[in-house]
Amino acid sequence: MPASLARPVTWWRRQSLRLRVTAAATAVLALALAASAYVFVAVLGEALVRGIDDQVYQRGREIVALSDANRLSDPVVSSDNTIVQVLDREGRIVDATPNTDRLVPLLPAASREAAVRTGSPLFLDGRPYALPGPLRVRALSADHGVTVIVARSFAEVESSMVTIGHVLIAGMPLLLALLAAVSWLVVGRTLRPIALLRRGAAEVGATARSRRLPVPEARDEVHALATTLNDMLGRLEEADARQRALVSDAAHELRSPLASIRLQLEVALSHPEGQDWTETAEGVLEDTLRLSRLAEDLLALARLDEGRLGRREPVDLVSMARRTAERYGLDLDLGLDLAPSVSPVVASPVVLGDTLDLRRVLANLVDNALRHAASAVGIGVRAEGSVAELTVTDDGPGIRPEDRERVFDRFTRLDDARSRDDGGAGLGLAIVRTTVEAHGGTVHLEDASPGLRAVVRLPLAR
Ligand SMILES: Nc1ncnc2c1ncn2[C@@H]1O[C@H](COP(=O)(O)OP(=O)(O)OP(=O)(O)O)[C@@H](O)[C@H]1O
Ligand SMILES: [Mg+2]
Repeated sequence: MPASLARPVTWWRRQSLRLRVTAAATAVLALALAASAYVFVAVLGEALVRGIDDQVYQRGREIVALSDANRLSDPVVSSDNTIVQVLDREGRIVDATPNTDRLVPLLPAASREAAVRTGSPLFLDGRPYALPGPLRVRALSADHGVTVIVARSFAEVESSMVTIGHVLIAGMPLLLALLAAVSWLVVGRTLRPIALLRRGAAEVGATARSRRLPVPEARDEVHALATTLNDMLGRLEEADARQRALVSDAAHELRSPLASIRLQLEVALSHPEGQDWTETAEGVLEDTLRLSRLAEDLLALARLDEGRLGRREPVDLVSMARRTAERYGLDLDLGLDLAPSVSPVVASPVVLGDTLDLRRVLANLVDNALRHAASAVGIGVRAEGSVAELTVTDDGPGIRPEDRERVFDRFTRLDDARSRDDGGAGLGLAIVRTTVEAHGGTVHLEDASPGLRAVVRLPLAR
């Protein structure tokens, strides 16, 4: 864009929507009005001229008929304002209406002949003949070489055209000003709800309390926009509330191991003599491990919430389940009959995902099962169609159907006291669900009568 154009364009873009809409509408209307006024004046002018021509011609025919019948009275009567001159073969005026010269023909010989030949009317300035304004003239030939010249003043038509022109010139700006004012008002009215929305949005930023935008009554686009924005604000508010709850829950969970550490250290320091420092260290270590587990779980959740997935690699569920079963079989001394029933499958089910994440899913489920089992825990792996199914079953008390979804929420523990002693913060199943969903799978709990079965379904790798 040339520099000379860039400045007005920038200026235009900076103006308010109200001004731009009003100006554009007014400009378009001005163009339309000017075009229609031009067409109107042209058509009207032509029609008026044609009317005069018709009158002139009619009068001419009458005079020619009278002349041919030799019944021309002297002088020719002029009932209207037409001017008539009857010329003989030599071009002398033999008869004329009183309103014209009886000596000088309106048309000199040459143009008279041409006018007779073409038969078309001409414009003529009447002033040299002491006639006011322009004339419309026509020449017709009659018998015996007689020529009839008929003319009529064009002044009336001219003055009415001038009047119409004046009316248009004065009326158009008035009409334009009226339209500009109306569109200024209408656009302002239309934009008012948007201004209210804007103000509402500004207040949302300022005070945390009023988190809703004003919704206009009219069921228009602004109404839809306000509703959508309010829905969005609602979702943000919910997310915000969840975040706050998470922070306060996390702080709550941090408090008890920290308080426990502090208490143990204070007691030990207040009676240093005869203190079993090994026991103190073991107690402190236990609480520290709880703290670090909590921190790890929170970090894992934060990473999953951000949608930062781990690697995407083929993970063999059978070998993962076998390793986990072996590990727990060796590590645990709970007197449980840990019989990992890894059911053999034709082709080992492989899913795409992050090994460490999926291992944590299984570990969390096995942790829960071991904590609640009466005597046995089983891990099962199956493949069905395009889905791999991983199950962890125990024979413990199970979970009531109405609680089986709730336990997936963060920091939700059903047997609060016992879980707390065991060090659980209630994040295990939340991590399981978030991880499984990030892998495109589902997880639910079902009755294993007796006990509970956690079922994880993941899409098989192709
Ligand atoms: N196999 C199960 N049998 C009975 N109840 C269970 C079982 N697994 C989980 N629950 C209940 O569900 C609750 C939530 O489990 P979740 O794994 O999320 O937390 P947690 O085990 O208490 O703590 P964390 O896993 O963070 O150490 C547990 O507190 C427990 O009450
Ligand atoms: Mg758990």
